[in-house]
Amino acid sequence: KIIDIIAGARPNFMKIAPIIKALRLREASGGPLRYRLVHTGQHYDARMSGDFFAQLGIPEPDVNLEVGSGTQAEQTAAIMVRYEALLLEKRSDLCLVVGDVTSTMACAIAAQKLCVPVAHVEAGIRSGDWSMPEEINRMVTDSITNHFFTTSEIANNNLRNASVGEERIHFVGNTMIDTLLINMDRLQPPDFWNEMALQAGEYFVVTLHRPANVDEAQGFAKLLTAISKGARGLPVLFPVHPRTAKTLREVLDLPDNIHLVEPQPYLEFNYLVKHAKAVITDSGGITEEATVMQVPCMTLRNSTERPETITLGTNELIGTAPDKLKPALDRLFAGQWKSGTIPPLWDGKTGERIVAALELLL
Ligand code: UD1
Repeated sequence: KIIDIIAGARPNFMKIAPIIKALRLREASGGPLRYRLVHTGQHYDARMSGDFFAQLGIPEPDVNLEVGSGTQAEQTAAIMVRYEALLLEKRSDLCLVVGDVTSTMACAIAAQKLCVPVAHVEAGIRSGDWSMPEEINRMVTDSITNHFFTTSEIANNNLRNASVGEERIHFVGNTMIDTLLINMDRLQPPDFWNEMALQAGEYFVVTLHRPANVDEAQGFAKLLTAISKGARGLPVLFPVHPRTAKTLREVLDLPDNIHLVEPQPYLEFNYLVKHAKAVITDSGGITEEATVMQVPCMTLRNSTERPETITLGTNELIGTAPDKLKPALDRLFAGQWKSGTIPPLWDGKTGERIVAALELLL
């Protein structure tokens, strides 16, 4: 049986790595499953894609659909057309999608329309915020998924509430955390660590790329000023996502302690997070990694699809208003941030559990 493993954008790559590793290990010892790795090409820069394949030991994709940039609809359409053509040329027995990016939804639709069953890894999580494209992607994908692999009991309950039968829900843990745990000893400082004389616990990491935070230059500038002041003179490292870079060109007066750097490779980025005083972000995945590394995390959003990072982990929802940051940073500097615990089954064995379940299902 052949499984298509779909990856398209940066946050997908760390999620597929452990599944591919587990499949290859099983294959070497006579396991029945084979895979075809399909890269949609949604992210194509070396810094957004190739570097992650190299560092995480992910094999070259068997197929690259090379869809590139575009609006949400353009990307969705291009991925559907090209993936459908691939399936018509050579059908697979299962389409495995991960996460919540455009590629996840587009491939799930194309596969299911050809009656190729769909497995969704990181299924069932919901922010309730329909203004985020990722929430639409999650809802559409889960509405046509056959096998749901979940990261939390909250996700299981969301699926039960949507009348998904218990036999289709597989609570397996978090493949993104598999990747983090297996690479923890390989994390390495970026080049600028020594040049900037950075010291553990004496700097912040910021990542921002959501439209609500970065698409409007004036609001973005206010947010950066609030971060700069709240950091009390400590350096703020800001690896800049391509979409953020476009708005940043319009923010002329960048505060002195904010240091813009290129998007970082996996090992360097997580080294920076691990040793940071805190992370300030609008990402979802980073809140999970910060939770596992027990690094204080402030999320500049009004909702999260990962509430366990707040109830169990080190994350807190701050919102998008710049004046909400100072009180949170004051608490951090006063040593009043929670240390948190690791959510159940985020133990590094999720890839193996998924492959074991797939062998029984296919
Ligand atoms: C996508 C995902 C988001 C994820 C983020 C992480 C969706 C709906 N969103 O958002 O969940 O958190 O990736 O990176 O799928 N660009 C480049 N080089 C690249 C890729 C993109 O320059 O390799 C540019 C594009 O031209 C575009 C912008 O970055 O202008 C946005 O890229 P896109 O993939 O459309 O969405 P993201 O905002 O990155």
